[in-house]
Amino acid sequence: MSVEGWGCVSVCRRMSENGAIIASASLVCKTFFLYVENMGKLCKVSRSGMGWVCYTGSFLDVNGGERMQLPIRMVILGAGDRGRTYAAYAKAYPDEVKVVGVADINPAASGAVAQAHGLGPEAVWGDWTEAVAARPECDVMAVTMPDALHVEPAIACLDAGYHLLLEKPMGRSWAECERLAAKVHEKGDRLVILGHVLRYTVYFRKLRELIAAKAIGDVVSIQHLEKVAYMHAAHSFCRGNWGNTERSSPMILQKCCHDFDQFVWWLGKRCTGVSSFGNTFLFNAAHRPEGAAARCLECPATVERACAFSARKIYLERQDYRYPFVDKSDAAMLKMLREGPYGRCVYACDNDAVDHQVVNLRFEGGVTVAHQMESFTYSGGRETKIFGTRGEIVGDGRTLKIHHFDTRTTELWDSVLEAGAPQGSGHGGGDFGLMDELVRQLTECDPADYREVFDVSLESHRIAFAAEASRRANGALMLAD
Ligand SMILES: NC(=O)c1ccc[n+]([C@@H]2O[C@H](COP(=O)([O-])OP(=O)(O)OC[C@H]3O[C@@H](n4cnc5c(N)ncnc54)[C@H](O)[C@@H]3O)[C@@H](O)[C@H]2O)c1
Repeated sequence: MSVEGWGCVSVCRRMSENGAIIASASLVCKTFFLYVENMGKLCKVSRSGMGWVCYTGSFLDVNGGERMQLPIRMVILGAGDRGRTYAAYAKAYPDEVKVVGVADINPAASGAVAQAHGLGPEAVWGDWTEAVAARPECDVMAVTMPDALHVEPAIACLDAGYHLLLEKPMGRSWAECERLAAKVHEKGDRLVILGHVLRYTVYFRKLRELIAAKAIGDVVSIQHLEKVAYMHAAHSFCRGNWGNTERSSPMILQKCCHDFDQFVWWLGKRCTGVSSFGNTFLFNAAHRPEGAAARCLECPATVERACAFSARKIYLERQDYRYPFVDKSDAAMLKMLREGPYGRCVYACDNDAVDHQVVNLRFEGGVTVAHQMESFTYSGGRETKIFGTRGEIVGDGRTLKIHHFDTRTTELWDSVLEAGAPQGSGHGGGDFGLMDELVRQLTECDPADYREVFDVSLESHRIAFAAEASRRANGALMLAD
């Protein structure tokens, strides 16, 4: 480690001894600056999920000695909801990340990002291939295009020497994932961080920390409920981009790879057995109410008013589900309901995504996990119970109750009261938490560890493909050791 590196460590130590400084600063901001005497310079100090870290204004690549300058320069390939979300981090933390280019086949989408980030026409492309071919001067490519456009762009970006923020799923088949994994391992020193945003939330980081610290002894089993929420299910997994498996990918891959990633991340073990059941229970023609029209705007009022999934209710009357759209005006919503996929009756779509699925998992050492993906919940989120040899953790997505068998006591931990890590963004703070982690990885971490960041994601995908194969084979055991 360099002199600068040791300077950082000594700052951390002094800060730790002076709890008052940490506490007062962390409550109000994510980062602040300190003058470090022995380095004779200003250090930027920030709190990442793992604790306090210090930056020195310019950064040291501990492996190759190459400096990663701040802000990290990022090009967005796919300026949709995810691309704009990650780009928003650059607006919030301009000293850390700068958006230097955008590619999207939809000029309105790329234009919105270009305008927000002050990009000239030379930094705006149409198809992603044009952007990669232009070899823009940047550090990271964010691949945030639809599921079918992940593997090829990722491989092309790695070949061009870029680090990657790659949206999940990494591939739509296990063969695609293996092909990408071979490339990631071949490149070695390129960071490939998947959009597994849950990993980087304060809440799930705490859960992992408790497990690692053996707060409840050894984990024996986990019960995990993934609440999709009925409106989200109708929007994304029936009418929307992920309703049709052929066009996107199986529900258990696209939605639950986050959860499988968590299990692998928490346990640090490989999965040895998978069995799964699930189907499209409600969103099919058999459940279409008598007299229902193919589009909600044309549906008789008697049918439409009684329908929980009415597009008129969701997009026109309520404003709260407009976030995925670039143009959120009433006029745009009306046009979209008349002509677009989101105006369709949920019982007359081309969907085949399952709306509920249970997956039983066995991990090395006999740890078991019962995972349930459920569309028919009032709100979204995750609820988790972790059963250990010395206690139990009960999590509702915000708070954790840690019950100890030996003392028969319970601790309560509330993520909202935690200071420091970014919590204001979507996915419980995970969207910005992921960007924060990207910066941390590229500026502080040893590239030798990049592989683990990717390989946990790879294992989550392996589980998801096995679960889908099991579901299709009526619950047959897959991945058995
Ligand atoms: N990590 C998460 O929690 C999370 C959440 C939602 C979606 N996702 C994943 O993120 C990805 C993007 O999802 P989204 O909701 O942003 O979708 P989106 O449709 O809003 O955005 C995708 C964008 O890619 C653009 N695009 C399509 N083909 C292109 C091409 N050839 N070249 C350049 N741009 C192209 C589209 O025009 C669109 O603007 C998906 O794979 C999805 O599964 C991840």
